[in-house]
Amino acid sequence: MNRVILYGFGYIGRMVAKEIVESGALEIIGAIDVDEKIVGKDVGEIIGIGKLGVKVSSEPEEVFEKAKPAIVIHATGSFLDKVFDQIVLAVEYGYHVVSTCETLAYPWLKYPNLADELSRRALERNVVVIGTGVNPGFIFDSLPAFLTSICSKVEKIKATRIIDPSRRRYSFQKKIGLGLTSDEFREKMAKGEITGHVGYAESLMLLSEMVGLDIANVIEDQEPIISHEYLETQYFKISPGKVKGIKGYGKGYGKDNKLKAEVEFIATVGVSDKDSIEIDCGKYVIKWSSNGVPGDYATVAMLLNVAKIVNNLKRGLRTMKDIVLLHA
Ligand SMILES: NC(=O)c1ccc[n+]([C@@H]2O[C@H](COP(=O)([O-])OP(=O)(O)OC[C@H]3O[C@@H](n4cnc5c(N)ncnc54)[C@H](OP(=O)(O)O)[C@@H]3O)[C@@H](O)[C@H]2O)c1
Repeated sequence: MNRVILYGFGYIGRMVAKEIVESGALEIIGAIDVDEKIVGKDVGEIIGIGKLGVKVSSEPEEVFEKAKPAIVIHATGSFLDKVFDQIVLAVEYGYHVVSTCETLAYPWLKYPNLADELSRRALERNVVVIGTGVNPGFIFDSLPAFLTSICSKVEKIKATRIIDPSRRRYSFQKKIGLGLTSDEFREKMAKGEITGHVGYAESLMLLSEMVGLDIANVIEDQEPIISHEYLETQYFKISPGKVKGIKGYGKGYGKDNKLKAEVEFIATVGVSDKDSIEIDCGKYVIKWSSNGVPGDYATVAMLLNVAKIVNNLKRGLRTMKDIVLLHA
């Protein structure tokens, strides 16, 4: 199946559209978004490649009615309770859904009832719903899990991702609070107006399930990093004393309170990008590092690669555990 509906035509949705057009492997047959600035406009014109003959609609039912068969690539929000109705609607119309929603990567942790409901409905309609992306979806979960395939047992896993947000999309720079005071940062986080990184705990639970770490308890937190100098990105001006990034972590403990896995995320202006994974296998330690997986491109690639195989997956609510090849 190579027909795609883009549900959410923000930064990621548009990058997905560009990639689809450039690669020619899939076809865009619908686009849904609520942003008044783009509703009614042609998808191709929005991404600067001329008319494609597909207009952005704010009426999902209208798009779903006409589009079948197709796969829905969903990228509107991070929290399952907020996007639940959108995904359920797509499911009810009989579409597979591949979503960037971070909490959908392992929905049983924070939304067990919604996860059960979604699972039931997806099975009823014989479709697949799956959350994926670069993180959650790859760096803190699928990749370390795959690396454990060369370990007979796993004592502990640590994954760290360090990125310079000035090379990332506007919506990412905004959600980590660039340019705010630390009070504004905390206030907006508390109100849900910004989110920081979402998914520390979901990645840990996914990793635990993939590798059999038996994590029984997860904690997560994040705090702003304050700048001591004036900095600028393409979108934000950061005065001394204002937020230039975030530092967050997640830790997963076994029933015996032993630390089984931890993830650390640092996104701060001016830093050198680096991803690293360390797996203690008892007899030896596996180390992997890279000088920066480009998050937005990686997310788009992951969405499209999952979309290409989604029809082969077992029906119902699935996770990256159903895709990753081998692990300890
Ligand atoms: N798992 C991962 O690795 C990963 C990677 C990248 C992104 N993400 C997540 O993916 C989501 C999208 O990211 P983004 O950068 O593309 O965000 P974005 O630029 O803000 O785009 C989201 C778009 O969805 C629209 N939207 C919101 N509610 C909607 C609804 N009910 N129906 C239809 N459209 C709706 C928004 O419109 P308005 O602006 O008018 O609200 C906006 O145009 C975010 O939650 C992000 O955190 C996850």
